[in-house]
Formats: sequence, structure tokens, C-alpha cells
Amino acid sequence: QSPSLLSSSLLEWYDRHARTLPWRVGPENRRLGEVPDPYRIWLSEVMLQQTTVAAVKSYFEVFTRTWPTVKDLAAADEEDVMKAWAGLGYYSRARNLKKCADLVASAYGGEFPDTENALLKLPGIGPYTAAAIATIAFDRHAAVVDGNVERVLSRLKLIETPLPVAKPEIKAVMADLTPEARPGDFAQAVMDLGATICTPKKPACVLCPWRETCEGHRAGLAETLPRKAPK
Ligand code: ADE
Repeated sequence: QSPSLLSSSLLEWYDRHARTLPWRVGPENRRLGEVPDPYRIWLSEVMLQQTTVAAVKSYFEVFTRTWPTVKDLAAADEEDVMKAWAGLGYYSRARNLKKCADLVASAYGGEFPDTENALLKLPGIGPYTAAAIATIAFDRHAAVVDGNVERVLSRLKLIETPLPVAKPEIKAVMADLTPEARPGDFAQAVMDLGATICTPKKPACVLCPWRETCEGHRAGLAETLPRKAPK
């Protein structure tokens, strides 16, 4: 199937089955013209580095209630931010979070930059996070690849090369599939598919909008992918 048929069938699925997450704009509010808040997208993506969605939710609520904007977070006491982070682990993430907020407030007037390259220069923002913010918050065309995306696309295209060698190939597939319209929703749709249907064990292929074209499924190999190089 062509990239545009694949992306539109997945976006249709996403419109019906997207997870409700506190940093997402739901379909109702989307219709009312609400757009994602870059501060909330950034905060959620930093929290989601090495932490599950389930664990992040309550921390995200506390942070955004206490510091509703990046300027509020910049004005906060570092000590209080570290306390609010306690339990999420990887405390360098919290220190970089504060540094990044300070910089966005002082150098950018409280507005996050809207390109992958400018985002990459901020503390605590690596290639994955820069791409995720650029596409989810600003609807930029960027190939967002996390563990979910690696699993979904290695199955869809029957990529048997082990990770991490397969990474560039997977990134190229993601870039090719990502549509010009709604690239941020597409990235989140692949993540949701990976989190809810195309799971590491016992994927629910019968429910998958891509089951007809999934090469891994057709070969009976979906559950064995992605391959990983022995450590
Ligand atoms: N994991 C990391 N970022 C995510 C997002 N925006 N939606 C779902 N899962 C994610």
C-alpha cells in the first residue's frame, strides 16, 4: 500500500481510538480550534523519557497545576521542582528541565522555538524529543522514532535487521509514511498503536488498521520483531 493510504487509514483509526492523555487536545476541543501547548508537549516528552505513560500522568498534573506556563516554571525554586520530580527518577532530567525553562523564559520570551534544530540546542532535548516537540506541538514534518515506532514499523515492513543497526532504516520508513497534513497526529497514532495493539507480546493483530498490509503479520513473524543484537 502507498504511504498516503497507510497514513490515512491509521489517522482514521486514531480519530476513533486515540488515548486520552492530559497533554493532548481531545477531538472536541480540536474542533473548537484549540491547539497543543508547546510547554505541555515538552514537559510530557521529557517526563516520558524512560518513564511509562501511566507513571507520568499524575506528575504531569501536579507540575502543570503548580506551574501552568514555562515562565512559571522558570520563576520556581529549583528545590521545589526537584521535590515535585521526586519518584520519577533520573534527576538530571529534572535539572535540565529547569535549565531549559530558564533559557526559554530568558532568551525566547517564554515561547518555545518551533524547529527541530533550534529545539535540539536546548538542555535536555535530544534528537527524539526535538522531533517529537516539532511535530506534535508545531505540526512540522519530522520522523519521530521511539521504541513503539521501532516495533510497529519493523513489523509493518518486516525489517529483520537487528536494532540498533536497523534504526536508520526505520527512521527512513517513518519519514516516508509521515503525511504533510497532521504529521503530529500521525506520530502519536503510531505510538498509540504500539502501546495498545502492536504490543511487544501477543499483539492484537485482529484489531489493527494495518493488518492487511503488515508484512510481519503475513509472514507470521510479527511477535518476533524487532530483532535485537545480542548484548
Ligand atoms: N510516548 C512518548 N510521547 C508520547 C505521546 N505523545 N503519545 C503517546 N505516547 C508517547
